[in-house]
Amino acid sequence: MDLIPAPVEAHRHADIGHFELRPGTALSAGPEAAGPARWLRSVLGAATGFALLPGDGGGDGSITLRLDPEITAELGAEGYRLSVAPGQGVRIDGGGPAGLFWGAQTLRQLLGPGAYRRAPLAGRSWRLPYCDIADAPRFAWRGVLLDVARHFMPKDVVLRYVDLLAAHKLNVLHLHLTDDQGWRVEIRRHPRLTEVGAWRTRTKVGLRESPLWDERPHGGFYTHDDIREIVAYAAERHVTVVPEIDIPGHSQAAIAAYPELGVTDVVDTTALPVLTGWGINPNVLAPVESTLRFYEDVLAEVLALFPSTFVHIGGDECPKDQWRASAMVQARIKELGLRDEDELQSWFVRHFDRWLADRGRRLIGWDEILEGGAGGRDRGRPRAGSGEEGRQGERASGDEATEYGLTPGAAVSSWRGYAGGIAAARAGHDVVMCPESQVYLDWRQAGGDDEPVPIAHVRTLEDVYRFEPVPDSLGPREAAHVIGAQANIWTETMDSVRAVDYMAFPRLAAFAETVWSPLPAPAERDVEGFVARMATHYGRLDALGVEYRPPGGPLPWQRRPGVVGRPIEGPPPIV
Ligand code: ACM
Repeated sequence: MDLIPAPVEAHRHADIGHFELRPGTALSAGPEAAGPARWLRSVLGAATGFALLPGDGGGDGSITLRLDPEITAELGAEGYRLSVAPGQGVRIDGGGPAGLFWGAQTLRQLLGPGAYRRAPLAGRSWRLPYCDIADAPRFAWRGVLLDVARHFMPKDVVLRYVDLLAAHKLNVLHLHLTDDQGWRVEIRRHPRLTEVGAWRTRTKVGLRESPLWDERPHGGFYTHDDIREIVAYAAERHVTVVPEIDIPGHSQAAIAAYPELGVTDVVDTTALPVLTGWGINPNVLAPVESTLRFYEDVLAEVLALFPSTFVHIGGDECPKDQWRASAMVQARIKELGLRDEDELQSWFVRHFDRWLADRGRRLIGWDEILEGGAGGRDRGRPRAGSGEEGRQGERASGDEATEYGLTPGAAVSSWRGYAGGIAAARAGHDVVMCPESQVYLDWRQAGGDDEPVPIAHVRTLEDVYRFEPVPDSLGPREAAHVIGAQANIWTETMDSVRAVDYMAFPRLAAFAETVWSPLPAPAERDVEGFVARMATHYGRLDALGVEYRPPGGPLPWQRRPGVVGRPIEGPPPIV
């Protein structure tokens, strides 16, 4: 049946024939299954041209979607059973609406590549094998980061990626909305963030030492209505959109819009543009009260737009040189009773950790949020009268800070290897594993000169298939804090959706299986079996219009001859 990701259990009854979807096939679903039924009717209706009218439940000519509390108990809310049997038609029983939705995605895969088209082709039949499938995900967080800051991806691209994630049973879209090179979400309280911060004059083509520039201005942003649409579209597909507002580094676009946010006694921040090149950038936020208030305003609007429990505040790659040189920042360190600049960053992160927890949300940040210690007189509590006191939501977790000074509900995206995630899990924090050495999809997919803008070490389809989110060194209690994993698509060298497709696929299909399916240890994984199933899956991707990297290497227009990357030889260190 060539399902990807592989289900937990699947039995095909090849000897007894098949079920055929016909113009009169009914789709029966109670009110609790209305969402998955709506989705299934719309995609299968488009692909087959059949109306899939409501039926009265069961029978050979029908598809039936139902919630089943026994499946909830056995397989969880995301679990489902799908059976196709003579006299019964197709039944999907879900532990919850999400389980029904994932079951409906499996049904679509079983119907063949044509089920991914948006109009019927002549002369097709729609056969399903008689089968029994029982399925549920290994992890709750099956994520993909899309960096829409470095290269803006129009709303349609984001909606398309939501569909692509859902087709692979991935359920978190982490949108990297702000960076030095662009601010991508409208903030009404501070309109210059997009009036100024969403646009740059030109763009470096290739990485640091590249002499090439695209001299066209670049930019774009999502309005509040765009975000509401993306979030609702994703929710219908059981995908949660996690917004990232990166602080206190990676903030030059915000400083270009509001120079007072920067370290004004060290650099003339009024002269800083939205950054046009790449790399770690010294121009960072000044961690002073007015900056806190500004970002509370920003986050208040973000919370109103994004219902996600988790809100990502970045926290990565913040050079401290300007803080060291600044009398203003040094006075702040003294006033707060902090040891040094690292502790100041920690104080800054802890402020927003508490601020989010007070509003019923949970902070997630890159693994740098574990650095800097837990010191200082103000342990990150919002001060009385600090503006947005807001609704006092339920605490995500208890009130006591962990050894990192964070609320217990704060979570870590472990990107510089596994080490940050291991430390966080041991301290009781939830972790999303996204080690760059394993699942950074901007890293090149093969050796050789043909790969477009080659970055870092080679990570092949097989390498990604052997990714294991839970390191052996964690005991069972600690391992339970690994709530999932994420593949990150950074777009410095991807200036279009075609370039993103090339880097994301087929590796995202392999990644999906590492977070959904109960795979054995990396060395024992059936790579050949996976590659064989991929032969069918490429047909699905073709029907979806995904411009993946073909197994034989890039097509001529997928190459970028002459554009300098930053390849590193040899295998990546596993840390
Ligand atoms: C990161 O890649 N700087 C999180």
